[in-house]
Amino acid sequence: MKRNVGSVFIVCALVIGLVFALSPTVQAKTEWKMALGDAEGGTQYEMGKKFAELLEKNTGGKLSAHLFPNSQLGSEQETVQNCRLGTLDLSVVAINNVTPFSKTVGLFTLPYMILSLQDGFILTQGPIGQQLVKNTIKDAGVRIIAWAYSGFRVLTNSKKPVSSVADLKGLVIRVPKNAIMIDAYKSWGINPTPMAWDETFTALQQKVVDGQDNPYITNYVMKFYEVQKYVTNIRYLFSLEPLVISEGLFQKQSPEVQQAILNSGKEASIYSMNYIVEKEGEIKKAMVEKGMEIMDPADNEKEFIEKATKQVWPKFYKDVGGKERIEAALKAVGREFPF
Ligand code: MLT
Repeated sequence: MKRNVGSVFIVCALVIGLVFALSPTVQAKTEWKMALGDAEGGTQYEMGKKFAELLEKNTGGKLSAHLFPNSQLGSEQETVQNCRLGTLDLSVVAINNVTPFSKTVGLFTLPYMILSLQDGFILTQGPIGQQLVKNTIKDAGVRIIAWAYSGFRVLTNSKKPVSSVADLKGLVIRVPKNAIMIDAYKSWGINPTPMAWDETFTALQQKVVDGQDNPYITNYVMKFYEVQKYVTNIRYLFSLEPLVISEGLFQKQSPEVQQAILNSGKEASIYSMNYIVEKEGEIKKAMVEKGMEIMDPADNEKEFIEKATKQVWPKFYKDVGGKERIEAALKAVGREFPF
């Protein structure tokens, strides 16, 4: 009797196994890991989430992605390295954290290069963006498959209102480990402190640094209003945040799956553009409600622009692919070389 129960159990297990193996709906799903530097609700997260949904839909459920926000998988620059090494699948990072691995991408971190969301969209989606995608594959071993559009980086600090270049004096400002951004602050007369993103909140809280810059939405979702008081709308960088995939992983996919990945990225980028248009105004208002004071340098903006463009751009002509590359980018957005 005991033996009979055992045999029945084995037969049942085999039948269940067979049913699962043959059923088209019970295919093994592969879940990729996606790192994010920012918190939930930010532009990185919203674009990443949309991409994951589309990836699942466009691959008939074969692929999906799990999101790890708040630098859980490492600093943004570490995650780019890990995608290159193939130990991580996907990551959404600010463009300034890709530039150290692929210098020509610095075109998009030149101060006052991008003057509107429209400029950012044209440059990332057009031939200039496509060339940078190719360069990044070659230099950094990662492929940009989508873009989050996060708005202009604004300066925040805990010490005093800033509305002119002179007001910056005496402030210790954190910047990403990005040579162009470091030089932008130097052009305004201060020596900034390069620091990884995942260390920034604590450094602001412990007053190791007085301020930093990031888009309104990033400052909001990272709760910087808890440790910062003043905002200056310097608008020197429009924050573009690419979703990168390990190139090794991309190359392992069938042509159909590669196309599904690229299509999902394109649609997620458009979603991101609409998301920031919809959200930025209300976020700005919420920051004021949280007690932040917003300064617009208006009359003094010219000084920020002139110093940063004239002193910084020429230093990086070679890195970004020559002065001609800057001229081509300006032409694409209907502007002329400013000096
Ligand atoms: C940085 O400041 O390092 C990044 O812009 C942070 C981010 O990705 O939001």
